[in-house]
Amino acid sequence: MVQHFHSGTIDYDIVIEHGALKHIGDWIDLDRRIMVVTDSGVPQQYVQAVLSQCRQGTQFTFEAGEGSKNIKTFTAILQSLIDNGFTRSDAVIAVGGGVTGDTAGFAAACYMRGIDFCNIPTTLLSQVDSSVGGKTAVDFGGVKNPIGAFHHPQAVIIDPDTLGTLDSRLLHEGLVEAIKMAATCDSALFGLIESADSLDDCMDEIIYKAIDIKRRIVQEDPQESGLRRVLNFGHTVGHAIESAREGSLLHGECVAIGMMYMSGGSARIRIENLLKRYGLPTADDTDPALLLSGILHDKKKSGDTVTVVYVDTIGSYSFRKVTTDELAECLKNGRL
Ligand SMILES: NC(=O)c1ccc[n+]([C@@H]2O[C@H](COP(=O)([O-])OP(=O)(O)OC[C@H]3O[C@@H](n4cnc5c(N)ncnc54)[C@H](O)[C@@H]3O)[C@@H](O)[C@H]2O)c1
Repeated sequence: MVQHFHSGTIDYDIVIEHGALKHIGDWIDLDRRIMVVTDSGVPQQYVQAVLSQCRQGTQFTFEAGEGSKNIKTFTAILQSLIDNGFTRSDAVIAVGGGVTGDTAGFAAACYMRGIDFCNIPTTLLSQVDSSVGGKTAVDFGGVKNPIGAFHHPQAVIIDPDTLGTLDSRLLHEGLVEAIKMAATCDSALFGLIESADSLDDCMDEIIYKAIDIKRRIVQEDPQESGLRRVLNFGHTVGHAIESAREGSLLHGECVAIGMMYMSGGSARIRIENLLKRYGLPTADDTDPALLLSGILHDKKKSGDTVTVVYVDTIGSYSFRKVTTDELAECLKNGRL
């Protein structure tokens, strides 16, 4: 299955195909210098599958984990591109999860003012969400993603077979971003995840539908000036929890908790039940004052209010402007 991303001058294919990793040359020109960026937790077999198809491939591996999504890794990739003589016509391919894609994509965005980038996401989170949309970034100053660039890939190649080596905690973490999209935009997808006896049976459909939602939203609002903010459902509080927890909770787990703060009515009950079914956290005991200061440092604040995404009926959402006082109350009460 191939979805086509088109917005203004940006055009690329999003391929979802079992076995796609074995013939990536169908979607990206490999006849040039290629830097395959990955992290130490990504099974080497995927990296080798890509490298073996490159005429002049170089591997750059950094230590796995959100702690590596920083300026140090970013500059080390740039240094390696320089050391290996990369020119403007060469390319970076990310093989890994959202951390790899965000960091490698940002390096590709900056090197020589932007070189080609191809994303091969290998976690569920990166397959259903982070690989599409062109957002690249690294963490800085204790804050999530404050430094980054919009840099769309030449292609996104999703091989669902790579999920076979992912442990269940990482799989369920990724499911959170699909639940986020379903909760805000697609009640049928939410129902599909709710009624699934086994995720394996409907994984391809979940990936396809989640990507389709993300693709359509980003096409309409590529620079995140309006509609695209819906994708931040759960992220306002989630990012603050993620920074405060310093790596003890995964990104998707923090977003899961964040969704609980920003939902009400029947939606809150359905979201909570679904998260619990996959062993995901739905509450956190981080000091609310610490979370508040984290949110106020976050880029989504404008003036005295913070705009949040709120869901009280599955499949729909509203943007709500909340004051700092209302937010402080919400953080104390665990819900808006
Ligand atoms: N750019 C965006 O639009 C966007 C959207 C959502 C999230 N994100 C970012 O994504 C990041 C989280 O991504 P993530 O959850 O993929 O984490 P991650 O990239 O850290 O990957 C999680 C772990 O899985 C390992 N791994 C990767 N593929 C594997 C495989 N197939 N089998 C076994 N292990 C594998 C990695 O080595 C790592 O240890 C966060 O930094 C978040 O900010 C970005």
